Amino acid sequence: MVIKLLSNAAYLRGTIDGRLFSSFLEHMGRVIYTGIYEPGHPTADDQGFRGDVLQAVRQMGVTAVRYPGGNFVSNYHWQDGVGPAAQRPRRVELAWRSVETNAFGLNEFMRWAAKAGAQPILTVNLGTQGIENALELLEYCNHDQGTFFSDLRRSHGIAQPYRVQTWCLGNEMDGHWQIGHKTAQEYARLAAETGRAMKRLDPDIQLVACGSSKSDMASHPAWDLEVLEQVYGIADYLALHQYYGGQEMGTASFLAQSLDMEAYFDTIRAAITVMRKKTRSQAPMYISLDEWGVWSKAEHSIGRAFERTPWNIAPVIDEQAYTMEDTLLFASMLLAVLKHADIVKIACQALLTNISACIMTTPDGGIWLQPIYYVFMMVARHAQGQVLHTVDVAMPHYACDAFDRVPVLDHVQTLREDGVEAVCFAVNRSQTETLTLQWQLEHLHPVKIEEFTVLSAPDKNMTNRSHPEAIRPCAGQGARLAGDTCQADVPPLSFCMLRVSLHNGGGQSDASV
Ligand code: AHR
Repeated sequence: MVIKLLSNAAYLRGTIDGRLFSSFLEHMGRVIYTGIYEPGHPTADDQGFRGDVLQAVRQMGVTAVRYPGGNFVSNYHWQDGVGPAAQRPRRVELAWRSVETNAFGLNEFMRWAAKAGAQPILTVNLGTQGIENALELLEYCNHDQGTFFSDLRRSHGIAQPYRVQTWCLGNEMDGHWQIGHKTAQEYARLAAETGRAMKRLDPDIQLVACGSSKSDMASHPAWDLEVLEQVYGIADYLALHQYYGGQEMGTASFLAQSLDMEAYFDTIRAAITVMRKKTRSQAPMYISLDEWGVWSKAEHSIGRAFERTPWNIAPVIDEQAYTMEDTLLFASMLLAVLKHADIVKIACQALLTNISACIMTTPDGGIWLQPIYYVFMMVARHAQGQVLHTVDVAMPHYACDAFDRVPVLDHVQTLREDGVEAVCFAVNRSQTETLTLQWQLEHLHPVKIEEFTVLSAPDKNMTNRSHPEAIRPCAGQGARLAGDTCQADVPPLSFCMLRVSLHNGGGQSDASV
């Protein structure tokens, strides 16, 4: 089956913010301890950071990392995690019913993020704490010196302020599972007052208020409307979270769930438009998708121990191996983010290590990379500049329980800022058919196909757990350029990337591959 796509340099959909390729670290299970931090590990540096993990994170192209939670933050005392390690208290941690040693805290995270080449995004506790605590943390991080908390930071050996730019006002406060869960009115008011005070202390920061924690929350979109109304002009982003499972629905329905995510963004875009008018504000407001991912099937779970064995240090929680099928939904979720690049400016894949993760670690041993790692890496490295508004001609669709019209090929095209490269990312949702992609680049003057890479597997249930790198990017077959049209074959249930160099400023195409 042939799928025709038409991109034109004149039609742009949105500018890609580099922070769309962010990730998330939470004190949960083995994400921090034996994930990124393991003193004594053969690859650990003098600060206890695993070198094998740092190298994989850099290679993955992670631009920013949100920390320290997640549900964890809603009962966290940040001061427990700073200062001399020997004096840090052990605490019961209620989100995951673990024991937190506080061996790793704020300053360790900031050092780790610098080594990973990622910007920090910090979350404040609006569960058990409030305005005062958020201000103290901000003062510790961003104030120069000469005040109690800035001098406390300096006494911990950090002379220069961190000047952290992006701050999340709590986590999933709409969720009944959240410690200190609030009604929309309670949260919106607290977020507005906390945000106002934080910007008084540091007007250069950007704030993220909690929107809905998933698209099927009964309170969505009423929660989002209430929060937007109260924080408009104070916060800069509304946070959305979204995870999908549901493999038991079957592949067609499972893969269609990215359409729900697209509708979620569109609903919030409309809510933002309404609230901009209602509040008579000129201020921009964007979406921060500050947690997103796929939950794998229970049979691919490596351990779900937290309910059975509480009060352990860094227990194994929800560690899972991703199948090829999971990987395709992950890819379509990332494409949904790109399609909404005009309104979504931050997106944090969750989590970075060990739990719904890209990178899996063995304590005292090596790492292995999930197939989703490669999707993230390919997109983070090559989706730059603008998203092109691309027309698909006679796209075949299928119907499933939740959606009448699911495109068989999910796709996004990007154009680098300097105009010298265009990239097409695509997911073939068909379980049987190879799709022949014919991508016409009108007025873009394609010169050469630089790369055609495919991620696929002989079995949709295959993972990289027992055979590391069984699923990894491989060169695709038969890509060719004729005139201004690139052609390539996209195998069933695969993700692919087609990179094309362009003659910047006009000129003749040739047919080299
Ligand atoms: O798996 C991570 C958890 O999922 C986060 O703590 C929470 O914000 C979300 O519900």
